[in-house]
Amino acid sequence: MSLGTWRMRGPAARRGVEEALALGYRCVDTATGYGNERDVGAGIRASGIERGDLLVVTKFPEEDAGRERETLLRSLDLLGVDHLDLWLVHGPLDPDGSLAVWERFVEAREAGLVRAIGVSNFLPTQVDDLVARSGVVPAVNQVAFGPRLLDPVLARHHAALGIVVQGHSPFSENDLWHPVLRAAAGHHGRSVHQILLRWHLEHGVPAVAKAASPAHLAANLTAHEFTLAPAEVEAIDRIADDAWKGPAR
Ligand SMILES: NC(=O)c1ccc[n+]([C@@H]2O[C@H](COP(=O)([O-])OP(=O)(O)OC[C@H]3O[C@@H](n4cnc5c(N)ncnc54)[C@H](OP(=O)(O)O)[C@@H]3O)[C@@H](O)[C@H]2O)c1
Repeated sequence: MSLGTWRMRGPAARRGVEEALALGYRCVDTATGYGNERDVGAGIRASGIERGDLLVVTKFPEEDAGRERETLLRSLDLLGVDHLDLWLVHGPLDPDGSLAVWERFVEAREAGLVRAIGVSNFLPTQVDDLVARSGVVPAVNQVAFGPRLLDPVLARHHAALGIVVQGHSPFSENDLWHPVLRAAAGHHGRSVHQILLRWHLEHGVPAVAKAASPAHLAANLTAHEFTLAPAEVEAIDRIADDAWKGPAR
């Protein structure tokens, strides 16, 4: 599981990253647009974890197209690392625009500045276009993911191309009060948050979850410690089809 850092800033971001790494997180997700790469880098250094044991991910703001290399060098400088493990295009542009950015991404990978390159918030058709025109398949597409957002077309498409679907916003994009999730939580003696993270794992989708509270950070790691029965996974999958709109007010 990746530690999401959107809206974490300043000393709180540094402490949050340090705390998460001390608890066992090994992948940190940030973005140029979050304005916190310096704080995330400080947290990484404060943790004392070897660079080789960490995955550092940041995202290039597509609106900065044309300034890819300088943006990447600034991200590396702020994070205090000499390479990224994964660099993502934060969102799609028109086909020509995405291709131009992607070509710079390929150059960065060939230069050894990033280990892997991917995209975020791309539709399968936008991925197809990029691959057809560049011949280079993204390693990852980071998309909002959850029961309501389950997209079998995207899942099959990305699996066929070998693209890892990474799920961002596992809590903020989901119905934390949904009765099916609450029933599973009660059955397993877990929180709805833990059930959602486990459901991501059952789908083979690594989650990018943000938590600043040490209790939340620790609780989220335990999603690896239990499993959901296939019938429970199917029941949660069906949330996408139901008409439940939230708790009675
Ligand atoms: N690629 C993209 O376009 C994109 C877009 C959005 C997000 N992301 C990435 O995905 C990450 C996560 O998404 P998000 O920031 O929208 O939020 P999220 O992970 O869906 O939800 C975070 C919220 O859930 C709370 N929380 C976490 N664990 C909990 C637990 N076990 N019990 C109760 N509450 C818990 C957090 O509280 P505390 O903070 O108080 O612990 C925080 O308020 C982002 O930080 C970012 O890295 C990427």
